[in-house]
Amino acid sequence: MRNIRSLFWVSLFLSSSSFSLGLDYSVITPRESLKDGDTLSSPDQVFQLGFFSLDQEEQPQHRFLGLWYKEPFAVIWVANRNNPLYGTSGFLNMTSRGDLQLFDGEHRALWSSSSSSSKASTTAKNPLLKILCTGNLVSSDGEEAVLWQSFDYPMDTILAGMKLGKNFKTQKEWSLSSWKTLKDPSIGEFTMSLDTRGLPQLILRKRGDPSYSYRLGSWNGLSFTGAPAMGRENSLFDYKFTSSEQEVNYSWTPRRKIVSRLVLNSTGKLQRFVQSKQRQWILANTAPEDECDYYSICGAYAVCGINSKNTPSCSCLQGFKPKSGRNWNVSRGADGCVHEISTICGKKDTFVKFPGMKLPDTSWSWYDSRNAMTLEDCKIKCSSNCSCTAYANTDIREGGKGCLLWFGDLVDMREYPSFGQDVYIRMGFAKKEFKGREVVGMIVGSMMGVAVVLVAVFACCRNKFMKRYHGEDWRKGIGEEDMDLPILDIKTISTATDDFSHINFLGRGGFGPVYKGKLEEGQEIAVKRLCANSGQGVEEFKNEVKLIAKLQHRNLVRLLGCCIQGEERMLIYEYMPNKSLDFFIFDERRSQELKWEKRMNIINGIARGLLYLHQDSRLRIIHRDLKAGNVLLDNEMNPKISDFGLAKSFGGDQSESSTNRVVGTYGYMSPEYAVDGHFSVKSDVFSFGVLVLEIITGKTNRGFRHADHDLNLLGHVWKLWVEDREMEVLEQDLLEEACVVSDVLRCIHVALLCVQQKPEDRPNMASAVLMLGSDGSLPHPKQPGFFTNRNVPDLSTSLSHSLNAVTITMLHGR
Ligand SMILES: *[C@@H]1O[C@H](CO)[C@@H](O)[C@H](O)[C@H]1NC(C)=O
Ligand SMILES: *[C@@H]1O[C@H](CO)[C@@H](O)[C@H](O)[C@H]1NC(C)=O
Ligand SMILES: *[C@@H]1O[C@H](CO)[C@@H](O)[C@H](O)[C@H]1NC(C)=O
Ligand SMILES: *[C@@H]1O[C@H](CO)[C@@H](O)[C@H](O)[C@H]1NC(C)=O
Ligand SMILES: *[C@@H]1O[C@H](CO)[C@@H](O)[C@H](O)[C@H]1NC(C)=O
Repeated sequence: MRNIRSLFWVSLFLSSSSFSLGLDYSVITPRESLKDGDTLSSPDQVFQLGFFSLDQEEQPQHRFLGLWYKEPFAVIWVANRNNPLYGTSGFLNMTSRGDLQLFDGEHRALWSSSSSSSKASTTAKNPLLKILCTGNLVSSDGEEAVLWQSFDYPMDTILAGMKLGKNFKTQKEWSLSSWKTLKDPSIGEFTMSLDTRGLPQLILRKRGDPSYSYRLGSWNGLSFTGAPAMGRENSLFDYKFTSSEQEVNYSWTPRRKIVSRLVLNSTGKLQRFVQSKQRQWILANTAPEDECDYYSICGAYAVCGINSKNTPSCSCLQGFKPKSGRNWNVSRGADGCVHEISTICGKKDTFVKFPGMKLPDTSWSWYDSRNAMTLEDCKIKCSSNCSCTAYANTDIREGGKGCLLWFGDLVDMREYPSFGQDVYIRMGFAKKEFKGREVVGMIVGSMMGVAVVLVAVFACCRNKFMKRYHGEDWRKGIGEEDMDLPILDIKTISTATDDFSHINFLGRGGFGPVYKGKLEEGQEIAVKRLCANSGQGVEEFKNEVKLIAKLQHRNLVRLLGCCIQGEERMLIYEYMPNKSLDFFIFDERRSQELKWEKRMNIINGIARGLLYLHQDSRLRIIHRDLKAGNVLLDNEMNPKISDFGLAKSFGGDQSESSTNRVVGTYGYMSPEYAVDGHFSVKSDVFSFGVLVLEIITGKTNRGFRHADHDLNLLGHVWKLWVEDREMEVLEQDLLEEACVVSDVLRCIHVALLCVQQKPEDRPNMASAVLMLGSDGSLPHPKQPGFFTNRNVPDLSTSLSHSLNAVTITMLHGR
């Protein structure tokens, strides 16, 4: 008896048809039958049809007839997904009419193409079964007339040239359905399809759940409104969407010579795999990307944003207030928001533009299928029907065209800083009134649960905290050299930011939102609105700001001024067009723009900025929250450290202190700081070391996962270093720039010295800068601190004893 497993390994690893135990066909006719062990291959030998089993522990002898990529092995289609064979006696026959039939050893039919096909089979003259180079398994009459094709029956995978959609005439649908588990191809929990109620939307849902799981949304001519990675933002693929009275469908093709597959996996995630030059499947992107992508997580008239703790937070659109109380839980079907001033159908209603949005759910929408109406026509149409709540263009190309109307509550929106589109929402008051309102109080930190409470507590405690640590010395330091800090008035700021309009919104941090602005002279600025009601006095605030403004270095973000208006406090910074470092290094595509030379420049710049904070400035500053998100990039990609105002300043001789409040971000915090609240310049050195490794590897320390072990990035690099394999941590593209190998090794070495367990073993920044720039020999690093995931304290318990654990990060820099 043949060994099933070894047979499988043959096709998996040796992948050479000459090695296979059976026959390898290029075409099958009614005279042949494909037995277990035989294969049918595409002309280019990329795809293969045959029998396979998966490494299922419970059912080792389950076998399936399927279609796969030969190398690296990846199953893309399964005939008998719900009806496995037992043993190796299965065979596939083709009838004289061109139907495919799968039998087991007892000649029982397990699957047939005619049962899935709606086409009535007629007698074919010359039936043939082949795999085309696209990966389409086709039964045809002669070379031309297609009788049946696997592309019409997608499983969990969509390849270039396949489609998702619906034909209105035949009612045929093309949709994906996930496998049950990674090792079980039977029908699983998730499906992805085009919902054609209202304006068609691509949606992902869980079986048996009437609601969506994730709405990629409607097509706007360039992309799906809720899937930035699957549209115009992506330079690798062309996405195509067509909608006619007959059929609506979606498909994609690669722009360059790329082999790729898009999979709906068993846990409900879309995974885009791309084949690397080394013939490996690389996970290029996944969707949903974050929790805010899940359907209507914040309820109606609310937007979801990811805060610095990587959790979703909800806020009401301007002009709306939380339906139930100030805070609400983030969960499916959350209460959401209601109009602050209710709409009365009539002359008083008006429409306010909300730019940069993922369009709301269009299940109950009306649209102009010809894409012919203008925005003005659209507004008139919406105004004339009292139940119309909003309108937008259906197509954003050519300045916008077509009309889309919503009836009922608007749900499942989110804001995108550089994506998204305009939606015009009906409001119960005149636009003029709305504009003139004091918007300040309306942006309440209406986030959810613990995080919001912490932010509020932090804002209030901060004042006391500052006093405690700076005391009198702090004040004296300012007195001797009182520099002029521009204090801008609220009018200037609100003109510059267009009344803090959504379009200028850059991100939200623990201290409040940040907006982009442009002063009358043309200078671009970033305005950080500190959380209201901090209780801090005007003089105190001014002094604090002056202190920060004194710190000037080419690798620090410059504070330009501040603004005080009643309870409101704002900080005005120089604007950084290139967002923050994390935006580049952790993104598969953008990181490719970051060649080694640039990375080295960034590492050196951060080192110098930090050295300045630690030593060269008259005030010794410990940053305490150094991380990729706090390193902004100017238009030449020079790094500038931001948010150092949060750092506590010291008198010249005071080199360390301890606190029971921890400010910082897990993954970057040194052990002594995270566990004991003990901080010094050496805790910044630790964070710097982590950051250097992240810049080199393109991986986050905290989120790092490896199949072979449960170490974080530090542990992983340490392990490779001990085994003399440290070059393996490099991103593939960087590795190709071979001339820099010695630079890279040096950076890794210095980084490992910086993340050593004991603070006294770590170099100070002055030594680190020297080490990075010289060729001299370096000491041998000791084991890093926090090198396993298990060592990292549980976030929830840490939070309870350190109220200040809220970091001040903006999502997208300034
Ligand atoms: C399958 O095809 C083979 C070869 O033509 C034939 O001998 C066999 O009877 C067929 N089996 C069935 C069940 O149709
Ligand atoms: C998609 O539908 C259009 C009609 O709306 C049709 O012309 C086109 O062939 C379809 N695309 C595919 C890949 O079948
Ligand atoms: C599904 O995809 C997500 C995102 O890539 C991944 O984290 C998860 O492990 C995958 N699950 C399975 C069963 O493949
Ligand atoms: C959030 O949900 C929990 C559990 O369902 C409940 O106890 C709590 O009161 C809710 N909080 C708010 C603000 O609604
Ligand atoms: C308003 O639009 C809704 C939904 O299309 C429709 O049912 C209703 O009849 C319209 N009302 C008027 C007054 O046109």
